[in-house]
Amino acid sequence: MATERTLSIIKPDATRRNLTGKINAKFEDAGLRIVAQKRIQLTIAQAGEFYAVHKERPFFGELTEFMASEPVVVQVLEGEGAIAKNREVMGATNPADAAPGTIRAEFAESVGENSVHGSDAPETAAQEIAFFFSGLELVG
Ligand code: RTP
Ligand code: MG
Repeated sequence: MATERTLSIIKPDATRRNLTGKINAKFEDAGLRIVAQKRIQLTIAQAGEFYAVHKERPFFGELTEFMASEPVVVQVLEGEGAIAKNREVMGATNPADAAPGTIRAEFAESVGENSVHGSDAPETAAQEIAFFFSGLELVG
């Protein structure tokens, strides 16, 4: 399997509870390297642009307000099969369905406030990394 990069976001419910380090430990323990990282606060418009694929969904307003409510940590994770590996480490969207030991099983508060985002395919990973990071910020 090839080395990949994926975009990860530690969401406001997790930054608020000081869980950045515990979540980063899960990534590193799984063999994912954090090759870029910054803490920012999104506007509702920026959150809407990022999650544009969901704009017709009933939870879109709630999702964008939540993502803009407090700081997030955006990061690029690198490793063998990083996109799928990160989704595995994250666990299912709804923490009630997430496998034991996953980030969402251990930390997520609800299906909406579920602690982390991860890209779901190579094309979205490339787009999402470019949304937050310039080439200069990706040193590997
Ligand atoms: P993400 O994009 O954040 O990595 O999560 P995901 O792929 O597991 O889930 P997705 O279907 O892409 O949904 C994006 C985010 O929207 C919120 N959501 N809320 N209230 C609800 O029913 C609901 N469903 C989804 C979650 O924050 C989810 O991660
Ligand atoms: Mg998604």
